[in-house]
Amino acid sequence: MSGSERNHNPAGNNRPETLDCCGGLNNVDYSKMDVTLMEELLKHINFHDSSFCVAVIAIIFNPFFWNVVARWEYRTRQLSRLFGNPYLACYALGFMIILLNVYRSHSMTVAMRAQARWGVMDRTDVFYAGIALMVLGTLLVVSSFLALGFTGTFLGDYFGILMDEKVTGFPFNVTENPMYWGSTANYLGLALIGASPVGLLLTAIVAMAYKVAIRFEGPFTEQIYQQRSQRRKHE
Ligand SMILES: *[C@@H]1O[C@H](CO)[C@@H](O)[C@H](O)[C@H]1NC(C)=O
Repeated sequence: MSGSERNHNPAGNNRPETLDCCGGLNNVDYSKMDVTLMEELLKHINFHDSSFCVAVIAIIFNPFFWNVVARWEYRTRQLSRLFGNPYLACYALGFMIILLNVYRSHSMTVAMRAQARWGVMDRTDVFYAGIALMVLGTLLVVSSFLALGFTGTFLGDYFGILMDEKVTGFPFNVTENPMYWGSTANYLGLALIGASPVGLLLTAIVAMAYKVAIRFEGPFTEQIYQQRSQRRKHE
């Protein structure tokens, strides 16, 4: 599945491989195949298409938005004040995040429909891999929501609504950020099902946006919980 797996070549790094499955690609080693495939993929994407640009903006804007708003709330408690209590404020932000994510999914679907399918991906095994990824992604997203609850999912920590203890059961024993990687798996599945090169690229951008978000959110959340345990020690 991943590039590193495809690069794995036990008999030596540059041993030529004959690939009869990919029409015309003979005697290329795997790393060159990756580059060629990547070039081919990019050739099938129209970067000047406005629906593509809208989707990219939506993908990058969403985690930026919720981090800025949540940190502002953490510093000033303005949202809690506006809504009267932290729970209502957290529900309002969560609802806003859901709307933004629905819009992001919509804009990605529009971009995928606006651009051509790619013959190389138009195969039943790719289609079923896409279905499997969407099942896996939905499982991760739904189970992590059930484990965290609404406020745990939607940045409750920033509103002073802390979890009693760190959730370590499924799906958090599989991946530390099941919500983000589940959502990424859903988009990857959608791109495979639609045989969509632009869908693949947009999925990669989603993954990068989430990676940045995790690096930004992880240490901050940890700090919030550390402060609580220190406060408890003093009491
Ligand atoms: C995670 O937890 C679930 C249920 O508690 C368990 O069935 C599963 O085997 C665990 N997975 C891993 C990778 O530890």
